[in-house]
Amino acid sequence: MIQRPRGTRDFLPDEMERRRHYESLLREVCRTHCFREVATPIFENTELFTAKSGPNIVDEIYSFQDKGGREISLRPELTAAVMRLFINEMSNHARPLKLFYFGQCFRYERPQSGRYREFFQFGAEIIGAPNAETDAEAIALAHSMVKALGLKEYVLRVGHIGILRGELRSMGIADADMAEILQKLDKKSYDEAAPLLRRHGIDDDGMTSLFEKTQLTGGKELLPGIEGEPGEYLRELFGFLEAYGVDDVLVDIGTVRGLDYYTGVVFEIEAPGLGAEKQVCGGGSYTLSEVLGGEPVFSTGFAIGFDRILLALEKEDHPYTARVPDAFVIAASEDVRPEGLRIASMLRQAGLGADVDLMRRKVSKAMKAASSSGARYVVIVGSKDLAQGGVTVRDMQSGDQELVPLDGLVSHLQS
Ligand code: HAM
Repeated sequence: MIQRPRGTRDFLPDEMERRRHYESLLREVCRTHCFREVATPIFENTELFTAKSGPNIVDEIYSFQDKGGREISLRPELTAAVMRLFINEMSNHARPLKLFYFGQCFRYERPQSGRYREFFQFGAEIIGAPNAETDAEAIALAHSMVKALGLKEYVLRVGHIGILRGELRSMGIADADMAEILQKLDKKSYDEAAPLLRRHGIDDDGMTSLFEKTQLTGGKELLPGIEGEPGEYLRELFGFLEAYGVDDVLVDIGTVRGLDYYTGVVFEIEAPGLGAEKQVCGGGSYTLSEVLGGEPVFSTGFAIGFDRILLALEKEDHPYTARVPDAFVIAASEDVRPEGLRIASMLRQAGLGADVDLMRRKVSKAMKAASSSGARYVVIVGSKDLAQGGVTVRDMQSGDQELVPLDGLVSHLQS
């Protein structure tokens, strides 16, 4: 037996239906917030991702040479791809551009619950003016999405990458050396950050105070204490978030994010119930366009880890009932089988979910199949009933059975 690759999953019909249901809720939120969908290839030229994603991502990339010797990678995320699309195809479009996407990403990570090698992101990017309302628009969309899905337990934390960068700068660390340190701080891997900081001459006291800062999370009372431009920006942003009704939001001094391209506001949403892989959404404003050869533009966005947020909903016992057929049509004898199919077709054209017995079962066995399909009604097509212009309809919940004229069948089932 051939197994599927490690870290990948198959989705069976019940699960797939559930996934599509939640996907459609997210799409609906995008519609009300006036974001429009884009799609990009699943594979790209490798340099798109190596340009500015940072060492973590680069280590995890699935890359290969195609038959023409080109360096190709499966996308580990979509932000770089959407920026490439913007530069190639949309740089002349009116701003702001408010785009969303849904698709799979690939990262060669150690698989575990909530962490896969193939996973799905539902994300959005805004390309527009460099102001706090643009960041607020992105965060408000992410917030509305979490709400629309019905997730009860979540923590939304918003920070500014400039705070820790400023801190490192004041310790004499050059911008070029920050990426590696920030990676470690993002993961709160202080043991690994310490030797890097020591190499830059930071003593234990300096480190302790830096590490404390990375753990500083709290309410809006923290805002007045944040100095400089990041403080000013965050205060304005939190005002706009409040106007958008996003008031369950924490100020997080230590949010760094694992990708290298962030330059301003950064935010994350966690579902605490998920344990280690609890981050269900991450985003912020970033500089990518000019790194990829485009004009400098302000851009901000986020991606929801679709698989993870679904796990979080499952943990909360979020109810989702699979759809069942409205009717299961059974031909009582061979000679009326075509009539059974005609009736099923009529129901389908009226928008009802109608299934038929494809296994040539006897009526009693077909009734069992209908019952296990969960169908609300069974329509039994028999020659005697047909002669009277009707069919027998059984309400599977009450067990009531009645003769229904064919021309009234659709409305009977719809009621
Ligand atoms: P990211 O934080 O790397 O950001 O990924 C976004 C989300 O994808 C994570 O919060 C997590 O829920 C989910 N995720 C990441 N890796 C895995 C995995 N191996 N298995 C399952 N889920 C995973 C980005 O990708 C940025 N492009 C987000 C962004 C958009 N920033 C600005 N615009």
